[in-house]
Formats: sequence, structure tokens, C-alpha cells
Amino acid sequence: MYSKIAGTGSYTPEQVLTNRDLEKLVDTDDAWIRSRTGITQRHIRAEGQTTSDLALVAAQRALQSAGLAASDVDLLIVATTTPDMVFPSTACLLQAKLGMPQGVAFDIQAVCTGFVYALSVADQFMRNGSARCALVVGAETFTNLLDWQDRNTCVLFGDGAGAVVLVPSPEPGIYSTHLHADGRHAHLLSVPGSVCGGQASGSPTVKMDGGAVFKFAVKVLDQVCREALASNALQVSDVDWLILHQANIRIIESTANKLGIPPERVVVTVDRHGNTSAASIPLALDLAVRDGRVVPGQRLLLAGVGGGFTWGSALVRM
Ligand code: UT7
Repeated sequence: MYSKIAGTGSYTPEQVLTNRDLEKLVDTDDAWIRSRTGITQRHIRAEGQTTSDLALVAAQRALQSAGLAASDVDLLIVATTTPDMVFPSTACLLQAKLGMPQGVAFDIQAVCTGFVYALSVADQFMRNGSARCALVVGAETFTNLLDWQDRNTCVLFGDGAGAVVLVPSPEPGIYSTHLHADGRHAHLLSVPGSVCGGQASGSPTVKMDGGAVFKFAVKVLDQVCREALASNALQVSDVDWLILHQANIRIIESTANKLGIPPERVVVTVDRHGNTSAASIPLALDLAVRDGRVVPGQRLLLAGVGGGFTWGSALVRM
């Protein structure tokens, strides 16, 4: 038994922050941001809007496109770095908002690789028969973690959510997933804060060595995509769409170049969403499904990389 994506959904908050808007907040300019990152705008959560609020709309849209209801779901995983609260998990809060009292619900924290991690875990629940219908969500209010004075980081990120519904299938579906982590690189990208003795301590905003992250990302994305292809005895030409974590257009283009995948087979949303961390891959997937690029029967190669460091891929047939 395999699992298969039966529906996709996504949501971005209404408020858009353009590069021009950022010029008024910090010493930056539209031309720099576009040429160094490919980003032109990002969405920002409304006052009071939480990660589970964003996740709710994406989840409802994914269920609707699968022709299923929340009452069908027996596994709910939310990948997020920006949970609504320390506990309960965002998955449990989302479960309540969806009105589903049944099933298993938990969060996964693998930063920008979170969705690929969550998809892999859900796939394994499905394959061993522990779940019959999984809702896998990547959702972030990542702008909560930004220092709006730090031009090195605040121009890069945005908020959003994406979701997929998995159902059992006699054929893949999800051919394989490959996950990796190496905590020795934790210092390159982190939010070094914690809650202790009832108080937030440390620094609650993103700290990043951008150049080192860039080099690491290009190296491991290429590796983990090749690993996915090799383990399924497939060639680059067998892949219809490459959907990478949307952090920087130059990381996406470099990886596609190294793999030999032409730009017309690469889904890009970083221009309009910025980096939405765990939400970026399911957001990009849903957009490409809804605009008719991704159609049933096609093979997709999904790959992400993020803080930890973590990285991973999923080879999927729609
Ligand atoms: O999910 C993973 C999350 N993180 C990432 O994916 C980040 C990966 N890294 C990157 O995307 C790139 O390294 C950045 C976009 C962060 C930076 O691009 P870069 O081409 O590596 O620029 P840089 O850090 O080498 O900076 C070049 C210059 C510097 O000025 P000087 O020292 O040459 O005078 C920076 O101060 O650009 C300056 N700069 C900016 N200028 C205008 C840095 N940020 C900005 C900015 N606006 N926002």
C-alpha cells in the first residue's frame, strides 16, 4: 500500500508588503532585493491572525479539492516553526478549528524542511496502515520572528500556509522520501531564544549567516534530489516538475542548473511569497496545481533545506 496526494490547498494573508514598503522601514532597495533574492513582495499576517488560522484555510481548501471532510482525517500533522503557543501543538489547535475530535495530531519542527519531514512521516503512517487519511500542513507566521531593523533577514521572509491530503493507493503516490539532519550547523541559522521561568530569554529573532546558508543549501538540495532519483532508478528527464523550498531564486536556479532541469520545469513562487519556511513547498505545489501546470500522472521532485540543518526530498506522482 502506498499513499497518494488527493488534494492540495493554500492560503496567504491579504496584507502584502512590497520591497518598496520595506524601503521605508530599513536601509534597503527594491533593486537589491530583486537581484539578490528574486523576491518582490511577501504576505504578512493580520493583527491577531495565528499560524493555526492560516493553516485552517489551507487545510479546508485541500480537503475540498480532495472531495473529503475533516471527519475523514485520522492523521493531522502540522509542520511549523512558529506555533501559536508553546503548547498545545498547532496541530491540536487546528484539529479543534476543523471540528474533528478523532485521530492523531502533532507538530513537526524541522524549520524550512518541515513539510518534507511531515510528508515523510505521514507517508509512513499510511504505508503501514496506521492511518487511512492524512492531512499534512506547512504553516508559518514567520514574520513574527523578524527583527525589522535587520536588513540581512527581514527582507527575506513572509507568512502563509499550504496543505495536502493523502489517501491510500495501490500504486505510488509517494515513491520515496529521504530525510537528513546535521546539527553541527545549527549556528548558521537560528532563533536563539527560549522560554524559561515564565519569561522569554535569549534573542527571539532570526540570526543567519546568509552566505554559508546559501552554499550549504545548493550543495544538499542537489544531493538529496539525486538521491531521490537514484533510489527510484529514474532520470532527471522523468521528472515533470521540480518544486524546491522557496528561499532565494538564485538557490533555486543554481540547484536546477546543477541537476540539468530547465527553468520551464521549475515552479517558482519566491517572487510573490518570499521565504515562508515550512509553508513554501505546499504553497508552491498548490499554486501550480490550481493554475493547471501540475496535472494528474505527473512526477514531481520536492526538496527542502532549513535550519538545524535539515534537508530532504520527496518524489511524488500526482
Ligand atoms: O530557508 C533558508 C533561509 N535562508 C536562506 O535561504 C538565505 C540564503 N542566503 C541568501 O539568500 C543570500 O546570502 C542573501 C540574500 C541573504 C544575501 O545575499 P548575498 O548576495 O550573499 O549578499 P551579501 O550577504 O554578500 O551582502 C552583499 C552586500 C553587503 O554589503 P557590503 O558589505 O558588500 O557593502 C550587505 O550589507 O549587500 C548588503 N545587503 C543589503 N543591501 C540592501 C545585505 N542585505 C541587504 C538588503 N538591502 N536587504
